[in-house]
Amino acid sequence: MFILRPSELLQKHLVKLRVQGKTIGFVPTMGALHPGHLSLVEYAQKQNDIVVASIFVNPTQFNDLNDFKLYPRSAEQDIYLLEKAGCDILFLPSTKDIYPAGTSQLPHYELDYLETILEGKYRPGHFQGVCQVVHRLMTLVAPENLYLGQKDYQQCLVLKRLLSLTGSPAQIKICPTLRENDGLAMSSRNMRLMPEERNLATGIYKALTFINEQLQPGTLAAIKEDAVRILCKYHLKPDYVEIADADTLQLLSSWDGCKKIVAVIAAFMGQVRLIDNMILPLNFASYAN
Ligand code: PAF
Repeated sequence: MFILRPSELLQKHLVKLRVQGKTIGFVPTMGALHPGHLSLVEYAQKQNDIVVASIFVNPTQFNDLNDFKLYPRSAEQDIYLLEKAGCDILFLPSTKDIYPAGTSQLPHYELDYLETILEGKYRPGHFQGVCQVVHRLMTLVAPENLYLGQKDYQQCLVLKRLLSLTGSPAQIKICPTLRENDGLAMSSRNMRLMPEERNLATGIYKALTFINEQLQPGTLAAIKEDAVRILCKYHLKPDYVEIADADTLQLLSSWDGCKKIVAVIAAFMGQVRLIDNMILPLNFASYAN
């Protein structure tokens, strides 16, 4: 695996591969890699000649400075895991590579409704930051395919919008969420949980499973309230429990029994904020497209 920085070196290397007609699959990450990330590398390998991954803990997407400081970092282990997974190129940019003109005057992206709800509402500015870094990375890597995890469902829709706003021809491939044996979605943030908290965090999956089991056409208020009660039983403090149209993320108060929907949850376990989702009804959830 080539480990490349600065961005000029990456671009020089990629030009050579492009001349040879190679296709590129790109897996952007913030490091602290877990099997979920490595599964993205695996999907990318199957569908492209070359897999490029990046590791950059992007300061502009953290609305909470403490969260940025505490974000787990494990560069050596990440390099080892990517190499083992067969990644071809790791781009390890510096802040200057990503933000050559600094971070004070970055572009604003018209995300409209998508950044007023859910993560957008609870983490103001977060999706602008995600778009800023991904726009820059996409310009540098120019892949055919961009691999994202379904766990960050709203981010997937935001980045679809980014690609359309910026006229990028790349395809977004949304890959299934990987889960621990007890259902907890794999996340770099899980590393910050104490053992007791780690066990209780499974309450998020329990609440999503409950919504799946109880889902019926009609009003959704009671099912959401019951899901909140499940979270509280597990000492999770919810920011939100919502059910939304899976394509537009319009929040729904009732369901017609046909539409593809997504149940989304964000909740704190102690100091650690976790998110998860489930596309429903479950037979709609055929992913890794
Ligand atoms: O999902 C993430 O890890 C990040 O938001 C991303 C897409 C790598 C941008 O920093």
